[in-house]
Amino acid sequence: MKYDANQLKITEVQKSKIEEINFDNLVFGEIFTDHMFTCDYEDGTWKNPEIKPYGSIELDPSTKVFHYGQAVFEGMKAYKDDKDQIWLFRPQQNFERINKSGARLAMPEFPKEYFFKGLEELLKLDKEWIKKGFGNSLYIRPFVIATEECVSASPSTKYKFMIICSPAQAYYSGEVRVQFSEKYSRAANGGVGAAKAAGNYAAQFYPTNLAQEAGFQQIIWTDANTHEFLEEAGTMNIFFRIGDKLVTAPTSDRILDGVTRKSVIDLAKDMNIEVEIRRVKVAEIVDAARSGELKEIFGSGTATVINPIVGFGYKNEKFELPKLEDSYGKAFKDTLMKIQYNQAEDKYGWRYQVK
Ligand SMILES: Cc1ncc(COP(=O)(O)O)c(C=O)c1O
Repeated sequence: MKYDANQLKITEVQKSKIEEINFDNLVFGEIFTDHMFTCDYEDGTWKNPEIKPYGSIELDPSTKVFHYGQAVFEGMKAYKDDKDQIWLFRPQQNFERINKSGARLAMPEFPKEYFFKGLEELLKLDKEWIKKGFGNSLYIRPFVIATEECVSASPSTKYKFMIICSPAQAYYSGEVRVQFSEKYSRAANGGVGAAKAAGNYAAQFYPTNLAQEAGFQQIIWTDANTHEFLEEAGTMNIFFRIGDKLVTAPTSDRILDGVTRKSVIDLAKDMNIEVEIRRVKVAEIVDAARSGELKEIFGSGTATVINPIVGFGYKNEKFELPKLEDSYGKAFKDTLMKIQYNQAEDKYGWRYQVK
């Protein structure tokens, strides 16, 4: 099927609401820009790619997404450099991943022509919403929902693909302590863990509430079979530094193939930091914490790039990590952000200019 990006219809707002927004006091994910991109799947084809004023959509109560959670999404960011140029970070990865997620949920592939045209035109229209300054960004949320009006438990014949955008400031979540999961699981072999399926996130809320009541901010999920191996956090992949070596779990059908994770692995190689991609035993991390060999734990993900973890809990014990001068996590964050904001050479070709 050939899709023509020139089919995109654009309707601009009559008046921007940007003046009403206090960009110095943004709560993550609450404010949205003036426009959104929408595209419908019907009769076996994607049609009506359109950018229009941001606003509500009406759906019949029988719409499948409400009943069976047939929905996938992505998370990416746009950055502005000092010359007002707009950049994305490895957007091809997000494009491929939303289709991989969709395939797992029996959803039709979204065409590349519409994805990039829709995204770029949307960013150009809403460019004033991308603020300059290290740490400021525009969070981009592409998503697909099943829109067939029918409660039979089978794949929808209709879908809506949308992109909405929300301005974001540098995000500081406070000190993060994590709990290693002993009982609940996020994903199982053959399941949907590797997909950004909406339901994966809903299923984490209850165990995360319990972890929060116990004094932790997040959970590190362990494998569903034995709970002996550490896999990933709610919206981050996870790295452990033992001595001078980094260890992270391999991706699988239980773990999301994070764009930040793979970028960190590439950077580490260039920085001569040894990275072992292998299963990480809970017992090994607990032992390393006891012996003082465990130097760092950090998460990697689009939202915060690198999120340092200051302590963890397992069974009834709590462990604190040392405060380091030469943190790997900090070095990765610095290097990645400089690439994202066009402040450093991008020898990997990760930056993508919107023009
Ligand atoms: C479950 C999960 N793991 C890891 C990540 C990190 O992925 P990325 O670096 O592509 O943002 C995310 C966020 O997208 C996620 O939802």
